[in-house]
Amino acid sequence: MMSSHDDLIRKVREYRELSITGGGKDKIEQQRQKGKLWVRDRLTKLLDPDSFVEYQWMRLHRSTYFGLDKQKYFGDGVVVGYGKIDGRTVFIYAQDFTVLGGSIGEAHGEKIAKTIEQAIQAGVPVIGLYDSGGARIQEGVSALHGCGRIFYANVKASGVIPQIAIILGPCAGAAAYSPALMDFVIIVKGAYMFITGPEVVKAATGVSVTFDQLGGADVHGSTSGVAHFVSETEEEAFIIVRKLLSYLPSNSTEDPPYIPTDDPVDRKLEELYEVVPTDPMKPFDVKQVVKSILDDGDFLEVHANWAKSAVVGFGRIGGYSVGIVANQPAVNAGVIDIDASNKIARFVRFCDSFNIPIVTLVDTPGFMPGVDQEHGGIIKHGAKVLHAYAEATVPKITVIMRKAYGGAYIAMGSLSLGSDVNFAWPTAEIAVMGPEGAVRILYRREMEKSTDPEALYREKLREYREIFANPFRAAELGYIDDVIDIAETRRKIYEALTLLSGKRAELPPFRKHTNIPL
Ligand code: HXC
Repeated sequence: MMSSHDDLIRKVREYRELSITGGGKDKIEQQRQKGKLWVRDRLTKLLDPDSFVEYQWMRLHRSTYFGLDKQKYFGDGVVVGYGKIDGRTVFIYAQDFTVLGGSIGEAHGEKIAKTIEQAIQAGVPVIGLYDSGGARIQEGVSALHGCGRIFYANVKASGVIPQIAIILGPCAGAAAYSPALMDFVIIVKGAYMFITGPEVVKAATGVSVTFDQLGGADVHGSTSGVAHFVSETEEEAFIIVRKLLSYLPSNSTEDPPYIPTDDPVDRKLEELYEVVPTDPMKPFDVKQVVKSILDDGDFLEVHANWAKSAVVGFGRIGGYSVGIVANQPAVNAGVIDIDASNKIARFVRFCDSFNIPIVTLVDTPGFMPGVDQEHGGIIKHGAKVLHAYAEATVPKITVIMRKAYGGAYIAMGSLSLGSDVNFAWPTAEIAVMGPEGAVRILYRREMEKSTDPEALYREKLREYREIFANPFRAAELGYIDDVIDIAETRRKIYEALTLLSGKRAELPPFRKHTNIPL
């Protein structure tokens, strides 16, 4: 006798019940004992209520070696599908550590890759929740194939849809490289990422380290720069995702969301007269300037604890989403070193991919001098900043606050590299190098011969300052569009953003992609 529809549906429900038990009650309890949420609780907390639609929950692996034939779990250790965040659709995949340590086998990897590909087709962001021991050892080459499929999909999605990774537990090998291929990595305290674990490190180098010392949240947030955000808790990581998405379009063909504001666009920033010293040698915190300029002082800083002589992040001006790039005079005078170069270049390229205008605030003595910097390749890393600004076709607005010396003047969104609107404050100084160094080079011989070298030095310093330690010479030559009152900065940038909102830029049709120095 044929089964009834009711019987058939009951059968599906029975399957479904099995699929939502992960690696079993004990493993789920162990996960919670470690202070971690279970995968389904994570999805509930991150996504809008009742918005999650799961795909491929019946999928099983097809391995038989090392006892895997007896360890089959519906979904194969990763929950995938789509849902909404603040009403906008996202695709999502979330690894379940209770199933074989969230390890990536062929089926697991193919599921994630397919989810990313579906997100590309739908033109919506993809979010990955990582909690995994990496490639599933028992599956051998099939596991490596699964990992490779994820990497391939990540790269296909690059620059097409935003990709956000959240690191919620151990992430080994492939579970670290996939996030590294995405746009933003958020790591929760207690989680860690590594390519080779402490035992391998000990065997190879003799050094003993804990997981946290090797690749914990502080390491990746402050030292390696692998993580863009560090959160105290899983819930805080989900708040960061929501906030981040609010600045981003769903794909590269859309503009970012416009969010009207009650904060007047012509608000005067008179508080900055107190914040910014006119003496270029005195430091100040550029984040105070950034917050004054942005709507409601709301700034989502990216890489807050890494390469701190540069500051990058998102905000809005008059409702328009903008990417802020600033030198930080409070840290090493705002010098651009190798890490700061990478931080700036990567951020500029992200903004350019997703139609987010770039606002650059300049106060830097230049690129970092030093043997370690030269040997570390400051030439090729600094060149990334030049490359990123030059290739970016989004609206580019630059404000020279104080020092803009040498290559760093050119790199930081100069007119020469295709910036659209260039402002300078009256405190701006634009020159090949700072006055002290310049005078010593130009007048070395005269000073050697002089009976009063100190007086000569002071006189030449004054002369150099008169010519270059102001924005007027650059403005006379057309390199600056306007010298503006500091208090007018928000209004001036807003007007430029409005002007440039319809900017059209042509890309060479015959080029596959640029060859940025790496
Ligand atoms: C299969 C794995 C696994 C893996 C963990 N498990 N990692 N199973 N393949 N890669 C299983 C464990 O056997 C265990 O199963 C369960 O997951 C939980 O693991 P524990 O070790 O008990 O958890 P914990 O103490 O929290 O340690 C987590 C861990 C550790 C640090 C991730 O398990 C570990 O070091 N795993 C191996 C990491 C690794 O080297 N992966 C390969 C990377 S190479 P039971 O049944 O006992 O509960 C790679 C290739 C691609 O990914 C590289 C691309 C470039």
